[in-house]
Amino acid sequence: MHHVTDTFARHPQARPRRLRRGETLRRMVRETRLSPDQLVLPLFAIAGDGVEEPIASLPGQSRLSADLLARRAARAYAAGVPAVLLFGVSDEKDAEASVSHDPNGAVQRAVAAVKDAVPDMVVITDVCLCAYTDHGHCGLVVDGEVDNDASLEVLARAALSHARAGADVVAPSDMMDGRVAAIRELLDAEGQSTTAILSYAAKYASAFYGPFRDAAGSAPGYGDRKGYQMDPANGREALREVELDIAEGADMVMVKPALTYLDVIARVRDITRLPVAAYHVSGEYSMLKAAAERGWLDERVATMETLTAIVRAGTDLVITYAAEDAANWLQEHA
Ligand code: PBG
Repeated sequence: MHHVTDTFARHPQARPRRLRRGETLRRMVRETRLSPDQLVLPLFAIAGDGVEEPIASLPGQSRLSADLLARRAARAYAAGVPAVLLFGVSDEKDAEASVSHDPNGAVQRAVAAVKDAVPDMVVITDVCLCAYTDHGHCGLVVDGEVDNDASLEVLARAALSHARAGADVVAPSDMMDGRVAAIRELLDAEGQSTTAILSYAAKYASAFYGPFRDAAGSAPGYGDRKGYQMDPANGREALREVELDIAEGADMVMVKPALTYLDVIARVRDITRLPVAAYHVSGEYSMLKAAAERGWLDERVATMETLTAIVRAGTDLVITYAAEDAANWLQEHA
């Protein structure tokens, strides 16, 4: 909206700096308010008990067995973080990604453990095959190619196993066409109609997933993900991906990564009334950590500026490895 009177005065009458005098006044006219309620903490689930494996490329993050993961989730919840996004990490890989839908898999056990320890915490699970296929691609490979339609059934079975373990929300990140509908259909047929779907609708083929692939052991053994993830040069296509996922039954849509796609977040915000999420991914987090370790950036100020920018662009939720730190910093201010 454009108000003529806003632009009527000029210097020396107009002085925007008047409203920047003192933190109290700045707080009053602040346009974007980041709240811990908007934050989602990603966690990596592994098999076993009492196992913690720190992830070198993601300082402060670890792969955790279900018991320790539930404790970590409880700590984040106490700090004000309402939700976790769980990833399964598995040494057992095969051509069919069988372990992706094993009811006793690491992620399924972690879901149950978190719901048991912190019943009110929202548990979101990442649904993908890349941590379970022997080639590391996000779908099944048939005749040397990632076969879209053959992958849908396995993805839907993985999502169902997460829902049965107690997940509140399943989040398909594979970028196969039609997976939202396939998942919705199987969940509904199996009595899981209350499980929501957060689709990674506009997920780009990004260099910023590097540290995550170390953490999850999910780097493709050959080739890359450009045949299914989006070209970073495309903005309009993201809107088409979002529209298709909404038509298929997505309850929330995601843009990923966040910082290099703020324009896409803003455009997606404009075309849907559904909640929008943005994923501040591993590489974005590790860049801040690495620069802070060298004393080149103030970690806290740079992190809060980054998260605020992502919310300012139009997202409702931010998925970030810095969720717990950010929630603590926000409570200190309150
Ligand atoms: C699985 C998946 C990835 C991420 C989330 N889900 C990796 C990828 O697509 O290669 C990346 C998350 C991050 O970098 O923090 N497909």
